[in-house]
Amino acid sequence: MNEAPQIPDNVFGLTVQEIEHYTDRLFRFRTNRPQEFRFRSGEFVMIGLPGLERVWRAYSVASPSWDDALEFYSIKVPDGPLTSQLQHIDHGDLVLMKKKPTGTLVHDALIPGKRLYLFSTGTGLAPFASIIRDPETYEKFDQVVVTHTCRINAELAYGAHLMEEIKNHEFLGDMTQNKLIHFASTTREEGTHQGRITDLIDTGKLFELLDLPPLDPECDRVMMCGSMPMIQDTKELVEQAGLSEGSNSRPGQFVVERAFAG
Ligand code: A2P
Repeated sequence: MNEAPQIPDNVFGLTVQEIEHYTDRLFRFRTNRPQEFRFRSGEFVMIGLPGLERVWRAYSVASPSWDDALEFYSIKVPDGPLTSQLQHIDHGDLVLMKKKPTGTLVHDALIPGKRLYLFSTGTGLAPFASIIRDPETYEKFDQVVVTHTCRINAELAYGAHLMEEIKNHEFLGDMTQNKLIHFASTTREEGTHQGRITDLIDTGKLFELLDLPPLDPECDRVMMCGSMPMIQDTKELVEQAGLSEGSNSRPGQFVVERAFAG
């Protein structure tokens, strides 16, 4: 008989309820949400698996803070210590989550503004999947622009599903109707739009296509999430536009977080 795994006090055991594979590199999974687990939309937690005692990886919670379930969007790294195994989880399996959420991609780290830009590449969309499903976002901002850039079209599937889900959702549908703009682009394959987000910002093409004015520190706020180089380059452009970085203890005009992998 298998013994139930010992779960330390600082860890929740989550039961997998749903798994969806998008490509051979990307999948999402949903679990139950322990009643006592509280987090702010946009925060991340440490995820592990029973039997992999020392392997913990940071994951943004992709579901919003009001949701009964927890959702995670993950890359599959063939020899990654966690994701090489996590990608094989099935309905009913146990996933471990450390109890303490944290992170800077939260409303508390931004000063008030009118328009919120959420720039993401790859799995960097995950924290924004939470934020764009949180009513607080639409109470705080008149307009929300979420951008997602991936290498190929197939990698945009999670974002496209998300937008469909929001549009058809009982209260988010109305709430987001004239406020939420989704912009997707690819860099290694032809698609509806092409190019790195940095080039699209730098050339002004993003604003031209969306019929919006260039970044303005007076009214625009920015969150960004992607690889280290993406963050460095995007941050430079946002700073050039005159925005200054915020944190939980000192809110500002933009905040950054690295997308995680492994
Ligand atoms: P590219 O195909 O030109 O490298 P990755 O999977 O490597 O994190 O890439 C996800 C997306 O982020 C890709 O479309 C990639 O474009 C883009 N990207 C990579 N580096 C940067 C960067 N420094 N600035 C902006 N976008 C980047």
